[in-house]
Amino acid sequence: MRTEKILVTGACGQIGTELVPALRAKYGRENVIASDRHLVTEDLVREGLYVKADVMNPVMLERVISHSGVTQVYHLAAVLSAKGESDPRGAWDLNMQSLLNVLEAARKRKNCRVFWPSSIAVFGPGSLPAACTQNSQLDPVTIYGISKLAGELWCRYYFENYGLDVRSIRYPGLISSTAPPGGGTTDYAVDIFHQALKKGHYTCFLKENTGLPMLYMPDAIRGTLELMATPREELTVRTAYNMAGMSFTPRELVAAIRTHLPELVVCYAPDHRQKIADSWPSSILDLEARHDWGWSPRYDMQRMVADMLQQLKEKKENMAEA
Ligand code: SER
Repeated sequence: MRTEKILVTGACGQIGTELVPALRAKYGRENVIASDRHLVTEDLVREGLYVKADVMNPVMLERVISHSGVTQVYHLAAVLSAKGESDPRGAWDLNMQSLLNVLEAARKRKNCRVFWPSSIAVFGPGSLPAACTQNSQLDPVTIYGISKLAGELWCRYYFENYGLDVRSIRYPGLISSTAPPGGGTTDYAVDIFHQALKKGHYTCFLKENTGLPMLYMPDAIRGTLELMATPREELTVRTAYNMAGMSFTPRELVAAIRTHLPELVVCYAPDHRQKIADSWPSSILDLEARHDWGWSPRYDMQRMVADMLQQLKEKKENMAEA
């Protein structure tokens, strides 16, 4: 078995913050290079290799990949859905150009496997109203979703034309106790926990009956590592796999949190993100992921809520002691 050398771009973001430690635990800290263009979180530097690199700079990217003998790239740097709408051209440029830079650098390097996250944002009004399957119509209305759809097709193009082993998942909204979200439409499902514990009340920016697919980060990380470890010939989807965890509305999430925190007060003030949420499916089906690489989530909403509250309380206590 070859020794993997792994580069993670956007390492300080929502997924990277949890994926990097998981990769270091699996492959050894000397074999995982975290990178980001921003100032890093101290843990990422203290616990392993780090390079400050801008994915928009193809020369720098190729240099890191070839000098370090990289065999896998997890390209996570991206602008999310809601933030992307405030600067559509900027979001398009970053999301697309960085992906093309990574695909090209990996193609030149040869035998380099790539992971790139897609999203439920590839679906849209034309895909609805039923639960979206792998092959439902793709009809994104946000620039983020449009860039994910184009990116999926680029990934398949590189696989079919250059044999580059690119793998991708259409993540639902990701819920993490460690990493703050940034600029997404599903962010309410993370913010509500922090506000519930801190203030006991929360103002939700989506309507109470807006159902969306969600996934707890420990499941997302495990599933991602499982997909990347699957033999190449077993994968049948070369755009991006649907990957389901749970689905709920804000009202259902509030009810689940209130079983632990009965005093929680929530009001609803839908803003511009409501339109984005309304364009997304309330649930997705993931038969292909289950069949091809054995995907199965471990967390439903109740388990996720219990774990989130416990993790956040422990973090608070640790900070108070420090
Ligand atoms: N969580 C993302 C967002 O809300 C969806 O992929 O933008």
